[in-house]
Parts: sequence; C-alpha cells; structure tokens
Amino acid sequence: ADVSERTLAIIDELKGLEGPLLPILHEIQEEFGYVPQESLPLLARELNLSRAEVYGVVTFYHDFRDHPAGRHVLKLCRAEACQSMGGDRLAERAKQLLGIDFHETTPDGAVTLEPVYCLGLCSCAPSAMFDGEVHGRVDGADLEALVTEARR
Ligand code: FES
Repeated sequence: ADVSERTLAIIDELKGLEGPLLPILHEIQEEFGYVPQESLPLLARELNLSRAEVYGVVTFYHDFRDHPAGRHVLKLCRAEACQSMGGDRLAERAKQLLGIDFHETTPDGAVTLEPVYCLGLCSCAPSAMFDGEVHGRVDGADLEALVTEARR
C-alpha cells in the first residue's frame, strides 16, 4: 500500500481517540520512520483541521522528523542543565565528527543527529541517547566511540 493508504488506515484506526492528532502522528512515524509530507493534508482533511494547524503541531514537537532516519539515531540533550555542563561543546564535536548538522543524516546513512530537550538525566549532564539508550556524562571520547560503533 502506498503512503496515502497506510496513512488513512492509521487515521481510521485512531481518530476516535480524544485528541487524536498526536497519537496518529506517533503511529505514522512508527510506521514510516518519519512523517511523510503527503500525510499532512490527509490528516487535516480527516480530522477537520487546517493544514497550518497540522503543520504547526508537527514542527512544534521535536520528536517528529520529516525525512527517514539513518540506521542509528544520536540525540544530544540541548536543555538547560546539559547546556551548562558543556552541551554546546559536545554538540559541536558531534557535528564535526559526523560532518552534519542537527536534523541531518550522514551521507552513508549511518547516523541521524537530533536534538532532544531533557532526557531526565540532568544530574549526569551532559546526556545523550543512542538508539533509544541513554548515556550520561558524555564526553568527546564517548561520542567518538558511539560514532565508530554506528559506522561499523
Ligand atoms: Fe539534559 Fe535534563 S537537561 S538531561
């Protein structure tokens, strides 16, 4: 089935929920690995929302990506506590190691770099998440190890 059909099936299944937009978006991202542009007008139509409303929600939540992710996803915490513990430097190091910016994927498809806003690990700042697993007190060497593992 194509993107539209699969999107419509998900909408059908979940639109009875109270406040269905977010659960539907999560399910769409689960299904495709990202939220395809083609899904947005369908969501607007089926949920009686304007396209601007749907687009606003998708861009407001940092969880949703608009392109497929790489084989691995590295998220770096960009919130307060981690910022104050060298998060900026760590982000610069990650961008340099990977040769990409936030929201991008390395050309070999190995790693997608994404910001995240607090992983609940503030006491172990700066923190990161690699393929769903959290890491605390991350330093440059840890980053290099993760990137090397991802590229293997
Ligand atoms: Fe980074 Fe809370 S601010 S884990």
